Amino acid sequence: MSKPEVIRAPKGLENVIVDRTGLSGVDPKGEHTIYRGFMIEDLGENASFEEAAYLFLYGKLPTRSELYYFSERLANLREIPDGLYEAFKQLPDTAHPMHIAQMGIAYMGTFDGKAMDLSEELLYRRAEGIIAKMPTIFANGYRISRGQEPVRPDPTLSHAVDALRMIIGRRPREEEARLFEVTLVLYMDHGFNASTFTTRVIASTLSDMYAAVAGGIGALKGPLHGAANERAMEMLLDVGLGDIDGARMYLEKKLASKERIMGFGHRVYKVRDPRVSVAKKYLSRYAEENEEARKLYEMCDYIEKLMWERKKLPANIDFYTGPIYHLLGIPIIMYTPVFAMSRTVGWVSHYIEQVTNNRLIRPKAEYVGPMGLKYTPIDERG
Ligand code: CMC
Repeated sequence: MSKPEVIRAPKGLENVIVDRTGLSGVDPKGEHTIYRGFMIEDLGENASFEEAAYLFLYGKLPTRSELYYFSERLANLREIPDGLYEAFKQLPDTAHPMHIAQMGIAYMGTFDGKAMDLSEELLYRRAEGIIAKMPTIFANGYRISRGQEPVRPDPTLSHAVDALRMIIGRRPREEEARLFEVTLVLYMDHGFNASTFTTRVIASTLSDMYAAVAGGIGALKGPLHGAANERAMEMLLDVGLGDIDGARMYLEKKLASKERIMGFGHRVYKVRDPRVSVAKKYLSRYAEENEEARKLYEMCDYIEKLMWERKKLPANIDFYTGPIYHLLGIPIIMYTPVFAMSRTVGWVSHYIEQVTNNRLIRPKAEYVGPMGLKYTPIDERG
């Protein structure tokens, strides 16, 4: 049998198609984000978290009764074992919430005696459980490690309302909850981004869903992926909210020293990130009645135009979610965790897609290290 041809992929796998997916993607021109056939603008404007999550898992928008039972199942699965609340008490108050969540999700895995059973019914039940518990793990892991009282989940509330309530410690107003929910819909999935690809690599070994999600959390933690929303907000605070002149000087200085501006640029979107249009629309509506939001909106819009003029780089979704989370009173360190709560829907859906049509993902590397060295006993080494 002849050896298969070796294909040399570019570093970072840029522009390489490694598999097919029916979950989400970007059109060939790189202008539109599509979730299972729907444009992101349409779902961002209209869908609840539960509707979009159902769409990802089950491939269609739910009917009224399907939505009712799905929402009820998620609400009832939101609580986590008492032992996990206890485990959070052992953590230092500097513990990063993304590390805490990796621990929390692995902890949940230890309770699933059938974690390696990949039968269809168990896959979907497990996926719903993981999606449901993520906000409780993140919010209470953060709270308890900081010496605060836990805020237990309330199954009478929707996923987004309860997630935000557990994070900020008070019931959000309706317009706050919707602003938050929109970002969850926008973050839900995005083709083979780094964290999703990580979960698919883990899934392709037929390891369990908890391990795959913990891996996804690890990849998302990096500033070139999920943590850009935190860095972008830190930059806006550094400049000073509403200080347009300060923003221009700050950017010119950073660009002159060839520093990256967080919240700008994207591997796929080179002209515009369609998720930004939706986030901006919601932020501008919110800004009509909120002075701080108006200042932030104007500042972001100014920086966005300046970056396009100077570098031809579009703002990405993280540039606008940072300010939204700031306005909602979410601590900066929890921005990437919020992204993770939402992206969990994508991760578990990709996990299911991968294991139900699997081939081990195992690329090759070109070895460029030394050759022919010989072992020398320790006393003879110079
Ligand atoms: N600020 C300044 N210059 C930039 C930036 C930026 N944010 N992004 C790219 N560039 C420049 C880069 O220096 C390079 O310039 P040159 O050709 O002169 O060396 C050129 O643009 C191409 O950069 P690249 O790194 O080859 O492009 P990429 O497609 O690999 O980068 C990226 C994608 C997201 C890693 C990058 O744009 C970046 O580091 N952005 C900042 C981090 C960020 O906002 N990440 C969130 C991504 S969106 C959320 C998500 O889906 O995770």
